[in-house]
Amino acid sequence: MTYQNYSLKQLQQIDAAHHLHPFTDHKELREAGSRIITHANGPFIYDSEGAELLDGMAGLWCVNIGYGRDELAEAAYAQMKELPYYNSFFKCSTPTPVLLSKKLAEIAPKNVNQVFYGSSGSEANDTALRLVRHYWVIEGKPEKNRVISRKMAYHGSTIAGTSLGGMDAMHKQLNGAVPNIVHVMMPYAYELALPGESDHDFGLRAAKSVEDAILEAGADKVAAFIGEPVMGAGGVKIPPASYWPEVQRICRKYDVLLMLDEVITGYGRTGEWFAAQTFGIEPDTITTAKALTSGYQPLSALLVGDRITSTLVDKGGEFNHGYTYSGHPVACAVALKNLEIIEQEGLVDRVRNDTGPYFAKALQERIAGHDLVGEVRSIGLMGAIEIVKDKATKERFLPSGSAAVTVRDHAIASGMMLRATGDTMILSPPLIWTRDTIDMACERIGKALDLAQADLRKR
Ligand SMILES: Cc1ncc(COP(=O)(O)O)c(C=O)c1O
Repeated sequence: MTYQNYSLKQLQQIDAAHHLHPFTDHKELREAGSRIITHANGPFIYDSEGAELLDGMAGLWCVNIGYGRDELAEAAYAQMKELPYYNSFFKCSTPTPVLLSKKLAEIAPKNVNQVFYGSSGSEANDTALRLVRHYWVIEGKPEKNRVISRKMAYHGSTIAGTSLGGMDAMHKQLNGAVPNIVHVMMPYAYELALPGESDHDFGLRAAKSVEDAILEAGADKVAAFIGEPVMGAGGVKIPPASYWPEVQRICRKYDVLLMLDEVITGYGRTGEWFAAQTFGIEPDTITTAKALTSGYQPLSALLVGDRITSTLVDKGGEFNHGYTYSGHPVACAVALKNLEIIEQEGLVDRVRNDTGPYFAKALQERIAGHDLVGEVRSIGLMGAIEIVKDKATKERFLPSGSAAVTVRDHAIASGMMLRATGDTMILSPPLIWTRDTIDMACERIGKALDLAQADLRKR
């Protein structure tokens, strides 16, 4: 029996009775009922009632080549028929992870040439944490095990991911994080820059908080610094250009490894294959997932720099770590086809030279002036809209976060799927968006802002 035999109400009842959703208040969901998305094509998703929504989030930051790509389905089908599964333990390999690793080494920063696979970004960050700590053990410095991260960072939902992340609400539920992880300030100029402080100076000050944390612990105790190049789930917080080169300089000065979490920014989102290239840095690890397969298969790739791999290979012995699905042949076949499509369609260059700049201009010209908008910002095809009560003072509506939810609900009703996080609306569309799609999105967001304003002013 297929889902078409069920009514929406029946599906919602079964969903509520048996399905625990991620990041969800389950009681609230039971009362409201879930929206059932049934199919999708190009930049659009469709729900069970036939509503068409322009997907401003590329699923969950992942469907970079858009929906309905037969080539990926065919790649998965062919691989499943030939070899649906074999592992890469016990000195075995299968062809697709071999070829994918070669491709990833070609497009990654030049110091990065090896890949460790998992199924999710969270798993890849667990691997990264284990790897950097193990690296210092092999190097004879086991006390160098602290990791510096940032407040509001999101690095996944496993215990290691949550501990690395800087979300208070998640830490509270953890009730005991992985030890020796500290969190410093985020590079979020809109709220944290001092009056009159330039973007450049703010970036240096935010980077200095990393140096302060290293000095406080002692450089001989610090293994690594981890950060998302652009904080995603925390609200598309784009650091000033001065930030990352300064963080890299500080890490090198104190011999601290630099870990970049590119689970969102990897594979073209900022107008380069990786945001490391956009910001001109060479990290020791790069965590990637999501758009590696455009979300068509679960797959993560931890890209590992030469400094770590040469120690691991030459002095490490067996690294006692791995997953059943590390290098899954079907997921890797889909990833290879996905990267081929991104390349053939010139999507990375298009984001850098055409749609990215057009998106920035459209947000500035058509959204930034709205009464409810304190700031718009974007990099490549990733953007944020700050919702405020008062543009001049940056005062927010109360309770915190409620205004953005109002905007989001009106956006969805206006045919536009976007996400609210705190008081910020975030956008991360498929890279196949054209200028026309951007125009359509701005029109729908503008309408949602008008409707939300009417509601919010009534309060
Ligand atoms: C920056 C970042 N790291 C890690 C993750 C976790 O990835 P996953 O949900 O695949 O475990 C996410 C997910 O959104 C993310 O945005």
